[in-house]
Amino acid sequence: MIAPLRVGIAGLGTVGAEVVRVIERQERTLSARCGRAIKVVAVTARSKAKKRGLDLRGIEWAKSPMAIAADPEIDCFVELIGGVDEPAGPAIEAALSSGKSVVTANKALIAKHGLRLASLAEQHGGALNYEAAVCAAIPVIKTLREGLAGTDIARIYGILNGTCNYILTRMEQEGLSFAECLADAQRLGYAEANPSFDVDGHDTAQKLSILASLAFGTKVAQSAVSVEGISTIAPEDLRAAADLGYRVKLLGVAVRTATGIEQRVHPTMVPRTSSIAQVMDVTNAVTIDGVGIPPITLVGAGAGAAATASAVVADIADVARGIRAMPFGRPVAKLKLTKKAPMERHEGGYYLRLMARDLPGTAGKIATRLAEQDISIESIMQRHPDGKVGGNGGARKSQPVPVILVTYATTEDAVRRALAAVQRDKVISGRPQLIRIEKN
Ligand code: NDP
Ligand code: HSE
Repeated sequence: MIAPLRVGIAGLGTVGAEVVRVIERQERTLSARCGRAIKVVAVTARSKAKKRGLDLRGIEWAKSPMAIAADPEIDCFVELIGGVDEPAGPAIEAALSSGKSVVTANKALIAKHGLRLASLAEQHGGALNYEAAVCAAIPVIKTLREGLAGTDIARIYGILNGTCNYILTRMEQEGLSFAECLADAQRLGYAEANPSFDVDGHDTAQKLSILASLAFGTKVAQSAVSVEGISTIAPEDLRAAADLGYRVKLLGVAVRTATGIEQRVHPTMVPRTSSIAQVMDVTNAVTIDGVGIPPITLVGAGAGAAATASAVVADIADVARGIRAMPFGRPVAKLKLTKKAPMERHEGGYYLRLMARDLPGTAGKIATRLAEQDISIESIMQRHPDGKVGGNGGARKSQPVPVILVTYATTEDAVRRALAAVQRDKVISGRPQLIRIEKN
């Protein structure tokens, strides 16, 4: 019988505490599947006194994450603290430098320092496993790295953030405010410690940059991702989307183009009948378009204690089995640089919501500015402030009313130039709302 794998866990919050529970509950199954036992021998967190509903008898309380990373009696260091700097980053570096294997769910750290950490793993022989960092329970890292090792990838896209999908779902279905939905996502343990990482799109961008690296063999580069979040999405956009046959989702898209890899994160209108539009609540979905094979879609829980612990424990099981994959699917030295593909060149349909002066000629001026940029309008509607489609009824003529336009495929550059001209005409007030449409 091989000696048990000795595991040390830093971080006992939403994810860490659940990992301790799962390893205990699944002791026999894990032992049978790995051919050896997995034992948690040390843990640490900020507060030893905090009530966590865990039985930690027989487990050492280490004085810091670094103490676990440096402990020669530990084989596998599990980092579940979060953040890119102290204490998570240096502790992972120390663990890898001493030849230990590391398991983490920390996408921020992998997106920022993943290449350096992968080099350390290569140099010293340990594994660096981070399946939980992208889409929690969905085994998308393994799918790209191992399952599709022989397939070229043309595009990878999906709903990569549980918090945003949860917020958009509840705003649409229950008419709740953005703030109420975010508070619930935080209470349920879905959101990041700083939830602006979720709602401003950075969490999705970190995950997308990791997926793009695995899919296209590029160096992870969060700075190469164009990012917009969901905080500007208003209830009227969700209602208009429904009227137009769409649903709004925060998508991350990485696609191979003639000029390089385009990586973008933004709210997107997807056809209501499409499979991605059916993905609701905290669920994530990733579609991989492999060359020569039909698309593969993986769907599952993208956040929360159980979903994330499932992937973390699977990564620990790989360490116990002695499986050591290259963290980014190929040696770090073989990964290529990628530069940011400019969003201005993006092509597609656009949803525009403009707060227009309800006066004769306004719609005509807007249509003219779009025509000047060769933009064809698929539909245009004016909404009464009470949500009804049509004129301004009895409201004062000077009061702005929402005008909603859908364009046929055009370029982002053309749309931006047309909107700038409309703003110069002073026929609208406030900032125009722009949501990209993705039909397939
Ligand atoms: P929590 O905030 O719930 O837990 C963080 C843990 O780290 C807490 O136990 C905290 O201690 C501990 N900690 C913080 N600072 C220190 C420190 N200086 N020294 C030692 N321990 C420290 O975070 P989550 O469990 O939600 O997330 C952990 C990681 O998993 C993050 O990287 C996150 O991005 C990732 N992740 C989270 C998912 C989720 O759904 N929650 C899904 C996928 C990934 P204490 O408890 O004493 O305060
Ligand atoms: N905050 C993240 C989300 C956690 O909501 O998707 C999972 O990575």
